[in-house]
Amino acid sequence: MYNMNSLLNRLYSVHLHSLKSLSKGSLTRKVSSGLSRDKSVPKLPKPNARNILITSALPYVNNVPHLGNIIGCVLSADVYSRYCRLRNYNSIYICGTDEYGTATETKALQEKTSPKAICDKYHALHKQIYDWFQIDFDVFGRTTTEKQTEITSAIFGKLRENGQLSERKVQQCFCEQCQRFLADRYVVGTCPSCHFGDARGDQCDKCGTVLDPEELVSPKCAICAGQASVKESKHVFLDLPKIKPELEKWVEGRVDSGEWSNNCVRTTESWIRDGIKPRCITRDLKWGTPVPMAGYENKVFYVWFDAPIGYISITANYSESWEKWWKNPEEVELVQFMGKDNITFHTVLFPSTLIGTKENWTMLKRLSSTEYLNYEDGKFSKSRGIGVFGDSVAGLNLSAEVFRYYLLSNRPEVADSVFKWSDLAEKNNNELLANLGNLFNRLLKFVESKKLAVIKSPLHKAEHEILNLAFLNLQQYLSDMEEIRLKSALKTVMELSMMCNKYLQDSEFWKLSKTDPAKLNTVIYVSCNLIRLVSLLIEPFLPSVSAKVNSQLGIVPSPREETLLEELAGLKNSEKILNLLSPGTTANNVQAIFRSISPSEVSDLKTKFSGKQFN
Ligand code: MF3
Ligand code: ZN
Repeated sequence: MYNMNSLLNRLYSVHLHSLKSLSKGSLTRKVSSGLSRDKSVPKLPKPNARNILITSALPYVNNVPHLGNIIGCVLSADVYSRYCRLRNYNSIYICGTDEYGTATETKALQEKTSPKAICDKYHALHKQIYDWFQIDFDVFGRTTTEKQTEITSAIFGKLRENGQLSERKVQQCFCEQCQRFLADRYVVGTCPSCHFGDARGDQCDKCGTVLDPEELVSPKCAICAGQASVKESKHVFLDLPKIKPELEKWVEGRVDSGEWSNNCVRTTESWIRDGIKPRCITRDLKWGTPVPMAGYENKVFYVWFDAPIGYISITANYSESWEKWWKNPEEVELVQFMGKDNITFHTVLFPSTLIGTKENWTMLKRLSSTEYLNYEDGKFSKSRGIGVFGDSVAGLNLSAEVFRYYLLSNRPEVADSVFKWSDLAEKNNNELLANLGNLFNRLLKFVESKKLAVIKSPLHKAEHEILNLAFLNLQQYLSDMEEIRLKSALKTVMELSMMCNKYLQDSEFWKLSKTDPAKLNTVIYVSCNLIRLVSLLIEPFLPSVSAKVNSQLGIVPSPREETLLEELAGLKNSEKILNLLSPGTTANNVQAIFRSISPSEVSDLKTKFSGKQFN
């Protein structure tokens, strides 16, 4: 089954250092967590609290997110945000759809409608998908709002005032037929290097050469296939070289703090070394945030300039006092989740924008990025119908818990990982069902059927052992969660569950009512409390599983319930774990939470999402 020694080594290696960091910020007591929290009153930073501003990269509105997108940002941030609430930190979780840009315009052309209609439709679809996955945002907004225009204009004004902008003329492809300038990847033509006929304006897919669209031989508009010509256009550039010294100072500080992952540090440093040039922040498009400057009436901001400002404007639509979150670096920790392709936008470009205003912005503290999730033997592809997209999970007769568990336990934290149906089924059957489900179901069913209750009872050697292990496990979990090692924290809870199963099995509890009723009381007392511990620690990952277990134990939301993890984090010894449940607790309406997934189901699912079938 599992190797107790290696488990122990891992648990004992919890650093004192991380233990110390755990007790920080446990000053607030106000109840604010739990599934039923009141969202109508916006949360604001509080003095002497840990105020944590959590964001997930704003998903593009024009795509249906696939499972890789979901684990990459919204789901990971949700786990961290739920953890923060359980710790009673004063945190908010901000997200929303990224709606402007060429891609949305193109989609509107394809669907023969307006960009606004596309955004409305897909924003609702995204929200519905995230609801299905039980992603609990404080706000799920959008970037196409008045506030976005207002705040972007103000930031732009400051940059201008501070001399951080310049204007330049650039050569750009223009489609006479569509009467519009074409973004690089919407120009196609013959590659000047390998003569491949279908090269894109930014790159040739055949020989890999990176291109400028003007270099293509006989460039054409990718949308209408009309002839593209080259025209001159004027644009605004952000003077990154001028901001560089300040930026570098800030980045060095972040690197020294050790709070950025290696990947994040490497990507950022190499970009600063090679990529710092004046950067064009406007585009010849209609669907975007307007540029408040004479001569730019037909242009808008480049999406990557104003999309990150979306985090701020979404917060501003949530509360008038948004500056308390965003212009409060002394009191607020900004923690951002994203896929690895988003890193430099969040560590270089957006921070440069903020630094350039010379205002006192809340800057990125921790960044948690993921690598890619691949699908079976290749990549997710919407156009070829390969892989699982958020809009097709609801009808599969598989619960959100199964997906959350599989995606989180397989989170591409340091390397790419692969989604495989056979693997999902195996993890479901061997881990969720055989480990976690077995612990909850077997014990609680027994307690219910024998009409047993939690009674304070004497402890023996086996109980001291399991409680000590649980205590160490808890410390490991807390330090993992503080450092956003989500996969490891989840593994830690699953190990705890495994140890509880072993304790139960060794106790031979099913024989005790006849042979040793006193010992039975002890076993029920200890194991029910341990179940409560497991269900608490698993909550950020599998919230509805916790809710089901709690309801089987008759636990109702209460102020104490909502600060339980904070209470546990302050424990100095393991016996206090036995205070989790009140004496007299019984089990009711016990039902299985998981079910097994059969090999034939796996092969059906594989075929369904292989792109080979019409569905
Ligand atoms: N829409 C982008 C993507 O999916 C992320 C935008 S993040 C923000 O890659 F910072 F710009 F908001
Ligand atoms: Zn065209």
